[in-house]
Amino acid sequence: MPKTKLGLAVCGSFCTFSKIMPIAEAIAEDCELTAIMSENAAGMDTRFGCAENARERLREITGRDVICTIPEAEPIGPKQLFDVLAVAPCTGNTLAKLANGIADSTVTMACKSHLRNGRPVVIAISTNDALGTNAKNIGELLNRKNIYFVPFRQDDPQGKPNSMISDLSLLKDTVAAALEGRQMEPVILGPRG
Ligand SMILES: Cc1cc2nc3c(=O)[nH]c(=O)nc-3n(C[C@H](O)[C@H](O)[C@H](O)COP(=O)(O)O)c2cc1C
Repeated sequence: MPKTKLGLAVCGSFCTFSKIMPIAEAIAEDCELTAIMSENAAGMDTRFGCAENARERLREITGRDVICTIPEAEPIGPKQLFDVLAVAPCTGNTLAKLANGIADSTVTMACKSHLRNGRPVVIAISTNDALGTNAKNIGELLNRKNIYFVPFRQDDPQGKPNSMISDLSLLKDTVAAALEGRQMEPVILGPRG
């Protein structure tokens, strides 16, 4: 059986980098993994680490150059590079663009290019405005063909009541379901036990 060709698109939710790296490592054992980074994810040094290290780590995990520009992302659709594309973590910024047909970054271009083949995109949200400004965009994408969500929950209902985060431990199972045309359920998780 040929390995699943999975694109992993990482956006600028910098606090999530430490969670996605080990998951990417595990996925790389079973899938042919290629990483994509938004310009912000690939270029910003923050209090969570330096951009160069994150890029290098993804290059090591996948054994391939990271796709970091719109011209590098454009062939994803025409060359049918992936069976499935996961945006994990997906920022509120990228989520809003995807919901509104904007493709002005590497990750949004990757999604647009991949979706033209009618193949699944899996979104793992990580955003403080999920139940605020971005609630309508989540609703829009929940109802969009070929888009699937990694189940998510409020991560700090008292401290950050509008914040929601996908449970990245469910990424692999969500991808498997999406490849069968199914949304993993329940898509809204209860409080972490
Ligand atoms: C330290 C730091 C942490 C951030 N964490 C998040 C986050 O968890 N979720 C989010 O939606 N945006 C977060 N942002 C804001 C995004 O990086 C910003 O909206 C950026 O424009 C996203 O670009 P992208 O969607 O192209 O990656 C963070 C920014 C910084 C500097």
